[in-house]
Amino acid sequence: MKLKKTLLLSFLVALFFACEQEPSKVTVSSPEQQNQIEFLLTATGQPAYRVLHNNEVVIDTSTLGFDFQGHPTLSGNFKIINTTTNNKDETWTMPWGEQTEVRNHYNELSVALQEQTTSARKLILHFRAYDDGIAFRYELPAQSGIDSLIVMDEHTQFQLTGDHTCWWIPGDWDIYEHLYTTSKFSEIDATTKRNHPNLGQTYIPQNAVNTPVTMRSSNGLHLSFHEANLTNYAGMTLKVDGDQLQMTSELVGSDRFGFKAKIPLPFRTPWRTIQIADQATDLIDSKLIVNLNEPNKLGDVSWFEPKKYVGIWWEMHLDKSTWDLASGRHGATTENTKRYIDFAAANNIKGVLVEGWNTGWERWIGFEDREGVFDFVTPYEDYDLEEVVRYGKEKGVEIIMHHETSAAPRTYEQQLDTAYSLMNRLGIHSVKTGYVGKIIPKGEYHHGQWMVNHYRKVLEKGAENQVAINAHEPIKATGLRRTYPNAIAREGLRGQEFNAWAQDGGNPPEHLSIVAFTRMLAGPIDFTPGVFDIGLPSKENNQINTTIAHQLALYVVIYSPIQMACDLPEHYENQPAFQFIRDVGVDWEKSVTINGEVGDYVTIARQEKGTDAWFLGSITDENPRTIEVSFDFLPKGKKYQAIVYVDSAEAHYKDNPTSLKIEQMDVDHTSTSTFDLAAGGGLAISLQPIEE
Ligand code: NOJ
Ligand code: CA
Repeated sequence: MKLKKTLLLSFLVALFFACEQEPSKVTVSSPEQQNQIEFLLTATGQPAYRVLHNNEVVIDTSTLGFDFQGHPTLSGNFKIINTTTNNKDETWTMPWGEQTEVRNHYNELSVALQEQTTSARKLILHFRAYDDGIAFRYELPAQSGIDSLIVMDEHTQFQLTGDHTCWWIPGDWDIYEHLYTTSKFSEIDATTKRNHPNLGQTYIPQNAVNTPVTMRSSNGLHLSFHEANLTNYAGMTLKVDGDQLQMTSELVGSDRFGFKAKIPLPFRTPWRTIQIADQATDLIDSKLIVNLNEPNKLGDVSWFEPKKYVGIWWEMHLDKSTWDLASGRHGATTENTKRYIDFAAANNIKGVLVEGWNTGWERWIGFEDREGVFDFVTPYEDYDLEEVVRYGKEKGVEIIMHHETSAAPRTYEQQLDTAYSLMNRLGIHSVKTGYVGKIIPKGEYHHGQWMVNHYRKVLEKGAENQVAINAHEPIKATGLRRTYPNAIAREGLRGQEFNAWAQDGGNPPEHLSIVAFTRMLAGPIDFTPGVFDIGLPSKENNQINTTIAHQLALYVVIYSPIQMACDLPEHYENQPAFQFIRDVGVDWEKSVTINGEVGDYVTIARQEKGTDAWFLGSITDENPRTIEVSFDFLPKGKKYQAIVYVDSAEAHYKDNPTSLKIEQMDVDHTSTSTFDLAAGGGLAISLQPIEE
């Protein structure tokens, strides 16, 4: 009742239908009133919005509109014909995730508009105000005589109120695997990131950024811009106007068709989202993106179990073995796979990924014509698929399938049915897919509508066959894991692999302290942590730019329901630190971001689902740092034994990365402790309840 009253009040106070020239304004506030969205029509009848946080404007008047092929621009001459309000306060359950229960609590305003011109087109705008941010989407209703539209451009503006500090990657249409740059908004120059030598495909047409892009204002407010529920549409980059401090949507296009998207009517665009937080840590705890997606469509997905995995993978990136058979150094042999299975079984690891098991790798990178090359059902002659599956089952270890499509999605689609029914027959419930290279057919990009629909088809086919998808070179995560919980993880960032071969020296120590507040807001990340042989002796110009404690901390800091222990089994032999990887959970009842600043450091604690165990991870950038941890996240009245893995006093990511202390202490919810992290360092704590 109280909720209804406040809602009513905010609508009544804010509803103005002023005289013809004056803008009309309607507002909606979040449940606790922190965030407010104002919808208005400009003097020319163009739809626009503003966003306020604690009564201060954080996004100033920003206009909305579209260009469609064969129709006049959809922007001015609108009149409000109706407004409706709605609100929701529900709690839903994640089948796997950072937490079991998620509260979805918002107030919604829908504004129906109609052009006052002869075309009299209709447009509905939906705004949702949450306490952790805001979102809006366009609805293009059925219009007489039009059953589809060709989107030439979407013109969604985001008018910033200051020259914020930004953490950004370029608006690449083909890949997200760029390092983040920290700069003032006015200094963003994405076109300087063109031609990276280590990207198999990259296309940065203009000065734009990809999302999530995170910003901090001079008074410490954090904003992160992204999109939710990207369905049958093109991915959105944000064009940067540094002088006007303005961003405008720039959809990824198709050169093949010469447009951005073709949409059937009625149509709802993805949500355009802004997470708003007084402190950086609140961005990580926000569930805005998943909340904006539809409920689980798949029902019971217990056939997929969150798990740690090892695999025939890092050895290829280190050039120790190869994916292809012809080299004579083939990694994916039956014997080698069994070695990994044995290692997994002995160490509480339930999955083994095998890359390079199938025919086609002889015509992978560098080949123009990759159509019809990879075969997703035929193993190389030295790999007995049925036998490794059988052997794994005997040891309680599941094989993780690998499908590198080499960015030839039509070839992949032709084989989806047979490939997934083979997996289903063998009881293989997850696949890592890959899309290295320029998309075939030419003129399509990884993040365009055509590929968005391909990635969706793969998810749907996967679901039909009880197959969960971990996509590399993917489309960005937009919270679809709520609807399709077989979307378990993806890459979509500079992963660990770059440390093995990037010509720019690999990921800097600050990388994951930025990723946690940017890419990770979109969804789970298959980063593949856990390198113990940090110096990479076989790679003259590369090493991992973190300490070993930092690698351990990533199992908690970086969220994914699948976590790789990516190093070679022999590098884990006789390593006391490996106990943390054996112990650490992968599926969580609760997660708490304890402290952190974007690009500097971050500390997260998570309670393992179904147990009372907690795990904590903390990482720092290139600066050593003392981290204070209050254990107040632990349940009251329970004592815990903490095993602490932390950098030693001499540790440093550059020249002493493996120097680590392992200590034990007892703590409870009243305890606080400080821990010294080295440059590029970390802290990992495993907390087990002491039964009394
Ligand atoms: C790129 C992926 O990111 C990497 O993990 C994989 O090993 C190769 N493609 C081969 O598929
Ligand atoms: Ca990759």
